[in-house]
Amino acid sequence: MEIKPLTGGLGAEIIGADLTDDSSFADIQQAFADHSVIVIRNQEFSPDEHLQFARRFGEINVNRFFTPLQSHPEIAIVFKDTDQKEAVGEGWHTDHSYDKIPAMGSILHAIETPNVGGDTLFVSMSLAFDALSPTMQKFLKSLSAWHSSRHVFGAETLSSEAAETGRLSNQDAATQDACHPLVIRHPLSGKSCLFVNPVFTTHVEGLSSTESDALLQMLYTHIQQPEFQCRVRWQAGDDTWDNRATWHKAINDYHGHRRLMHRVTVEGCAVDPAH
Ligand code: SIN
Repeated sequence: MEIKPLTGGLGAEIIGADLTDDSSFADIQQAFADHSVIVIRNQEFSPDEHLQFARRFGEINVNRFFTPLQSHPEIAIVFKDTDQKEAVGEGWHTDHSYDKIPAMGSILHAIETPNVGGDTLFVSMSLAFDALSPTMQKFLKSLSAWHSSRHVFGAETLSSEAAETGRLSNQDAATQDACHPLVIRHPLSGKSCLFVNPVFTTHVEGLSSTESDALLQMLYTHIQQPEFQCRVRWQAGDDTWDNRATWHKAINDYHGHRRLMHRVTVEGCAVDPAH
């Protein structure tokens, strides 16, 4: 099994893995801790095998809003059809940051991809934190921020194309709010990671809305630097990403073509502040 970094900072490709072999899982888990995004190439997975692999990382966290796969309701369908314009997940985000215990990460399995396009971009929250000045780092470590599912998956989104086409539903269940440290100590690597994102974070606790908006906007601009990113070009295979260490974004550049992914999300643990 070969582990090849995707960039100088974030992500790695894993070639030649045998996911049924218990002894290689320790190396896969270590690569996940080291690189935050691992792309395990050339795996043909059945839904049962997908779930089996995910359970090696932890309990499954069933997404409340994505259409489930009928035969395996723990698997969420991420789909865009030829006549649809909106891709689910096209804004920068961290899955489930609105939960009091945020998910560890997700495993996306490519079933059908366009010939060109439909990549996923990731960005590292620890590289972004490390590049800030010590004074800003100290200030941010003293803060917490609120996250919510309401404005993203609730009733106000009923008129979105994703809801109208049935790709997102269950709007009444969008009642989650959570306050997390703005800088967390990563549970696996121990690194300090920024923990706010443009889709789910609503405001910074204790700041006025003008102050909170300005601070978040500054961070979002800083975080999006290409030096902290990696881009995954999909082949038949798997991608496992860590929600506590990254943001991700589906690139919506394949209008007129189908893209179908199966996503399994794995439970995490409470996130502690970095010191
Ligand atoms: C997601 O945000 O879960 C989906 C990402 C993708 O489709 O690339």
